[in-house]
Order: sequence, then structure tokens, then C-alpha cells
Amino acid sequence: MTTVGIIGAGHIGTALAKGFIDHGYDVVIANSRGPETLADLVASIGDGVRAATATEAAEAADIAVVTVPLKAYREVPVEPLRGKTVLDTNNYYFERDGHIADLDEKKTTTSQMLQEHLPDSTVVKAFNHIMAADILTDGSPAGTENRRALATSSDSAEAVALVTRIYDEFGFDTVDIGALSESWRVERDQPAYVVRQNAAELEQNLARAER
Ligand SMILES: NC(=O)c1ccc[n+]([C@@H]2O[C@H](COP(=O)([O-])OP(=O)(O)OC[C@H]3O[C@@H](n4cnc5c(N)ncnc54)[C@H](OP(=O)(O)O)[C@@H]3O)[C@@H](O)[C@H]2O)c1
Repeated sequence: MTTVGIIGAGHIGTALAKGFIDHGYDVVIANSRGPETLADLVASIGDGVRAATATEAAEAADIAVVTVPLKAYREVPVEPLRGKTVLDTNNYYFERDGHIADLDEKKTTTSQMLQEHLPDSTVVKAFNHIMAADILTDGSPAGTENRRALATSSDSAEAVALVTRIYDEFGFDTVDIGALSESWRVERDQPAYVVRQNAAELEQNLARAER
């Protein structure tokens, strides 16, 4: 059984926990306030999920997900994620996260920041440009006409292949943006951000992105 360690139990963390359970994974999920505050969530999802601290979720993870407000990314435990693939859903909202100069000046991307924080992990952008509510409802079987597509981005081809498999299990086609340095193309305010699009439309929207 593959265990997904999810750090962040809000809108996206909850939707992903349900989805991973539906697709046969075990899930260990964490928030900032402690596992006891996740009892209702865990009970509502059912078998296969347990609450833990962020460190425990990272330790248990075969695959990790970081889905916290960007301002908290430096609190993500480093050591227990060493050598692991980390799916990064995070987006930058200066209204919530405060201003981050390197992002405002377009010197980096949110995923490159997480990768720098986790130098011995493999960060891959995933599920950042779909509303949480759509993750469990917009998927459809492979080959469905006009199937919704999601973008991913990583410096590792293996991590892109992993997210491609996971997207397919959740019911989405994949468009690979390439390196994390290019992941700005799917960040907030770009044409591909949180709109429903098939693979061809997503490719067009990524090409239309302007930094
Ligand atoms: N909402 C969406 O539809 C959507 C779509 C795509 C991408 N995103 C992005 O995905 C990320 C998560 O979004 P969200 O809407 O799920 O956020 P959210 O509902 O505000 O939930 C954030 C979660 O992160 C937890 N958290 C905060 N600091 C933490 C820490 N240091 N260690 C462990 N957990 C911590 C919070 O725990 P506590 O409650 O205990 O503090 C909470 O469970 C954001 O970067 C967001 O921009 C969101």
C-alpha cells in the first residue's frame, strides 16, 4: 500500500485525502494545530486515513503533499522528506501571505522556493490550478471527449510521470510545463489558472502566459 502524507488539511488537503483514499492509497494528514483537531475530518473520510503531526505525516509518506498557505512553507519539515517526491499545490496570494519580494520581482516561482527549502526532496507542482471543490467532481475516464487537463512542472521527469499517473487516477489529462522555473505559467492571474480546459486548451493557455 502506498501512503500519501498530506501536510495541510484545509480545502485542498481534504479533497486530496478523500481522492487518494478513493483511489486505494493510505493517507496520513496533518494541520498546524495538532491531530486531535482533525478527528471529525478523519471520521468523515473513513478507513485508510489517520491524523498526525506534520513531521509524522512526512515520515510516513511514500509520496508527500504540501498544501499550506505559502507563508507557512518554511515550517514544512525538511529531514523526514529527504529523498521523497513532494507534490506542491501552493499559490502566492500577497493578501494572505504578505509580500515576498522574489515573487513580486519575478525572480523565482513558488515551487522553486519550496524546492530550495527541501533541497534533498523532489518537488513537483500539482493540483494548484483547480478549485478544491472540482478535484473530486471534474474528473472523467481516460479518453473521455474534452477531458479536463491539469498542468504539472518539475525538474525531475520521474516526478512528472508520478503526477501524470495520479492525475489520470483522479480523472485528468496532464500537460507538462517543464522545469520548476517555468511553473509561473500556471500561477495566479495567468490564463491557465483555475479555468476548466482540456489538454489542447491548457497548452494554448500556457503558451499565452506573460510574466
Ligand atoms: N482552495 C483552493 O481551491 C485552492 C486551489 C488550488 C491551490 N490552492 C493552494 O493550496 C494551498 C492550500 O490551500 P487551501 O485552500 O487548502 O488552504 P486552507 O483551506 O487555508 O488550509 C490550509 C491548511 O494548512 C494548514 N497549515 C498551515 N500551516 C501549517 C503548518 N505549518 N504545518 C502544517 N499544516 C499547516 C492549516 O492548518 P490549521 O488550520 O491547523 O492552521 C490548514 O489545514 C494554498 O497555497 C492555496 O493557495 C488552493
